[in-house]
Amino acid sequence: MPDNHIEKLKIDLNNISTENELLNIKSKYLGKKGQITTMTTTLKDLSIEKKKVEGQKINILKKQIEALIDEKFKQIRNDYINRKLKEEKIDITLPSRGTNYGSVHPISQVLTEVIGIFADFGFEIVEGPEIETDYYNFESLNIPKDHPARDMQDTFYLEKNQLLRTHTSPMQIRVMEKNEPPIKIISPGKVYRCDSDVTHTPMFHQVEGLLIDKEVTFADLKGILIEFSSRFFGKDINIRFRPSYFPFTEPSAELDIEWIDKSGTKTWMEVLGCGMVNPKVFEFVGYDSDEFAGIAFGVGIERLAMIKHGITDIRYFYQNDLQFLSQF
Ligand code: PHE
Repeated sequence: MPDNHIEKLKIDLNNISTENELLNIKSKYLGKKGQITTMTTTLKDLSIEKKKVEGQKINILKKQIEALIDEKFKQIRNDYINRKLKEEKIDITLPSRGTNYGSVHPISQVLTEVIGIFADFGFEIVEGPEIETDYYNFESLNIPKDHPARDMQDTFYLEKNQLLRTHTSPMQIRVMEKNEPPIKIISPGKVYRCDSDVTHTPMFHQVEGLLIDKEVTFADLKGILIEFSSRFFGKDINIRFRPSYFPFTEPSAELDIEWIDKSGTKTWMEVLGCGMVNPKVFEFVGYDSDEFAGIAFGVGIERLAMIKHGITDIRYFYQNDLQFLSQF
């Protein structure tokens, strides 16, 4: 009879390959209602001597069954590990997929370069708030409430007399309020105008420049900007100063740079506004305009980047197209 059990168990074990199946077999033989347990319960009807003999036999059988199940368990485990090792083999001879490195955005690159050039000229760098008050963005720059010049810049107005600065010129006032001449600063940063086409985005970057001293003339302004242009673009760029109007400078000018536009035509692109600081602005900050003179300029960074890299639509800079951006 015991041999019969072992033979049956061996057949059972041969037919299975998973741990779950093995657990079922284990309970079939050794479980509460398993065959061995059932055999044990029949012992109670036997005489003491027979109990001893049969009990020992059952114990031996039980040990054999346990050993066989244990062995099968190890075998299933081993098979599993060997199979995994085979399946998950890593082919280290495969070439890797490579890594994508990020790069500095072209606008940040140009901004850094522009700041670097003016830093070489001895300008100090100051930064200011993008949320401004009407006073700093307009009023103190000689642009009163109903002045038509407010239409030059489509403004994003916020609550409580606040707005998104439309230019970096408010920094002229903030710096003059806190310092006495001589002053020689640039102020880079983001500015906002409700405007969008091939040469305008609602957010763009400017670098403001302000130089105030006892003897500063328009010739200084021209000299600085011509030197800047040739350093930034190289000597063979064509530039021109064109008379213009800004309420906070008098006289005022704009600097144009020759380039090839979207239709392939050679034209001029305006890249900055500039001029002599208007004595009216000095009044707002309490400077004596008989003693001091100032020059100021505001450069558009996206425009410089367009010309430098031959990009005919300013909006490309802000579409986050990796194919476009990875060229720089
Ligand atoms: N703030 C002017 C603009 O954004 C540019 C400018 C700056 C003009 C400084 C004159 C002096 O259009």
